[in-house]
Amino acid sequence: MIFNIEDCNIVELPIAHTENGNITVLENQLNIPFDIKRIYYLYDVPMNAERGGHAHYELQQYVIAASGSFTFILDDGTNKKEVFLNHPNKALHIKPGIWREMKDFSSGSICLVLASMKYTESDYIRDYREFLNYRKNG
Ligand code: TYD
Repeated sequence: MIFNIEDCNIVELPIAHTENGNITVLENQLNIPFDIKRIYYLYDVPMNAERGGHAHYELQQYVIAASGSFTFILDDGTNKKEVFLNHPNKALHIKPGIWREMKDFSSGSICLVLASMKYTESDYIRDYREFLNYRKNG
């Protein structure tokens, strides 16, 4: 199935408030639309760094600003949008086939990623022309 940037939305995550702070829990088959196979996080990212610059054939991700803030630029080959993430109770759901770049990491920010697949280099499209060709011709 081919997804567009309109399919990549911010999802409000549940928050359990306690007197001593909040907890957000994501659990397979309960409140996340794919099974989590891998977790990774980006940190100590220099403020002027630009990361990403790739798409995936199959991978889905939930991206969460566990701390601080950053911006994702999503591109479906026709349209682009910028998504600013700055709160740990919001996740950006990135569907398959979307080119993404990341920028404007605040100092100390942590970009937490929940992924639907184990690391698979063959699932990456790292060349933008190849990405556009994939979007046009499948
Ligand atoms: P990459 O996904 O290109 O980074 P980003 O999108 O954050 O800019 O990954 C950067 C490097 O880390 C690349 O050499 C592959 C490696 N890597 C793994 O080995 N396993 C992983 O799960 C991820 C996400 C990256």
